[in-house]
Amino acid sequence: MAVVWAIVVAGGSGERFGGPKQWMPLGGRRVVDWSVDAARKAAAGVVLVLPVSDLGRGDLPDVEAVVAGGGSRSASVRAGLAAVPNAAEVIVVHDAVRPLAGGDLFTAAVEAVLGGAAGAVCAVPMTDTLKRVDGMHVVETVSREGLWAVQTPQAFRADVLRAVHADEPDATDDAGLVEAIGEWVVVVAGDRRNLKITDPVDLAVAEALVR
Ligand code: C5P
Repeated sequence: MAVVWAIVVAGGSGERFGGPKQWMPLGGRRVVDWSVDAARKAAAGVVLVLPVSDLGRGDLPDVEAVVAGGGSRSASVRAGLAAVPNAAEVIVVHDAVRPLAGGDLFTAAVEAVLGGAAGAVCAVPMTDTLKRVDGMHVVETVSREGLWAVQTPQAFRADVLRAVHADEPDATDDAGLVEAIGEWVVVVAGDRRNLKITDPVDLAVAEALVR
């Protein structure tokens, strides 16, 4: 059996949300607890990345390692990577602010990597009409043909994930870095309930979904 580890990144300050959303209550637990529990379903070990100011909390989730994040999401992923043992063959990266990702999404992404892909991302086809906008001026309508909204979890061959982070790049997700070196990234079916808690309305929707 392949050795799978997960990195749950919760090192953001939640500026757009107006506070640290990873600690907000959701269905009787906290946002971060949902994310860690789901990651654990597919991983032998979980590394949790937190803002340095949270490291001393007495109510941390039960994980194999807790590390301080960096100034960007990518830096936080790298901080997590440093705590993942070398024995890990597949590493799953998950945003703590997607608490409704089920364990099945983690498993599907890991299985795609075990099946030969360098990376696998959970994603759903776009359903909205997309427009490029400059200020409030519509510049063009962009065809949504072939466009998917990408979520986490994202699973990777451990050697590939470590290699793409070696030069300390910055990107909004890890798969983008893997694509950029020409490695094979596949999509696995995501879940529209796997929303990203970005502003307070997202938390209200998540609360309704778990109720
Ligand atoms: O920045 P964004 O909203 O895309 O954040 C996605 C995830 O990355 C969140 O779970 C957030 O806590 C995490 N993050 C991090 N370190 C940062 C910025 C974001 O771990 N410096």
